[in-house]
Amino acid sequence: MSAILSVSGLEKTFGSVVAARDISLDIPAQQTVGVIGANGAGKTTFVNMITGHLTPTKGSIHFEGKDITGLPSRDITQMGISRSFQVAQVFPSLSVFDNMCAATAIARGDGRFISAALRSVHAPEIAADVNVAIELFQIAAYRDTLASTLPQGIRKLLDIAMAVAGAPRVLLLDEPTSGISIEEKFQLMDVVMSALKARNITVLFVEHDMEIVERFADRVLAFYDGTVIADGTPGETLGQARVQELITGAKLKLPHGEASPHA
Ligand SMILES: Nc1ncnc2c1ncn2[C@@H]1O[C@H](COP(=O)(O)OP(=O)(O)O)[C@@H](O)[C@H]1O
Ligand SMILES: [Mg+2]
Repeated sequence: MSAILSVSGLEKTFGSVVAARDISLDIPAQQTVGVIGANGAGKTTFVNMITGHLTPTKGSIHFEGKDITGLPSRDITQMGISRSFQVAQVFPSLSVFDNMCAATAIARGDGRFISAALRSVHAPEIAADVNVAIELFQIAAYRDTLASTLPQGIRKLLDIAMAVAGAPRVLLLDEPTSGISIEEKFQLMDVVMSALKARNITVLFVEHDMEIVERFADRVLAFYDGTVIADGTPGETLGQARVQELITGAKLKLPHGEASPHA
């Protein structure tokens, strides 16, 4: 199967800092890819190069066979790659419904609908789709609540629903569960991942909680010092000694029969 997203020899330097080096990989359509790595490992840099928020120093990025390397982020979003940020990007003084109308109008590039949405005037063409989306993301109960007063988890759902308003084929989520309590994380990810599956969206998500990664990713990329040190199923990647040593901090299990050094 051909890849929906393909990166080759990707590198990004900031002065003497090498934030990404020698990253080459293919992502098949509809795969859900988890990205792990310590702070500063280069996860966000990788995401930002794909979305056009950063221009790679070297290498190439292809989306659906087209070279998108170095294109402006607006063009890349229009082509079908969307993202969320670590901090939810919503209009605080608008309701959930109006935020969704604005995001949908912006994604469709229709200036008439954008200004209408910001004045809470609802174009029927957009309102119908927004009603479907807020059901899918399970935020319909908050339809008329101002975004500024939403519980954190609901604000995250709104943010991701807004990123999906333009019907992207690929969605990049940078730490979608950051700031969410452990009890709420699974519920949030259940809603998000079911919604994205229902829309056949290919997902790449950065996540620090290994239980979340194991549960929701088909494949896990482990980043260390700007490069991918492991790439496989969750079991394969999280089972690697180097990943445990450098990233997850899990204690290494001694091979069967070997005496413990402390025995
Ligand atoms: N705009 C920037 N200018 C200079 N250095 C940066 C910039 N963005 C990231 N870096 C550096 O690149 C490395 C990778 O950062 P980042 O991609 O944010 O890591 P992560 O998301 O895995 O925590 C870090 O050393 C960071 O300090
Ligand atoms: Mg980051």
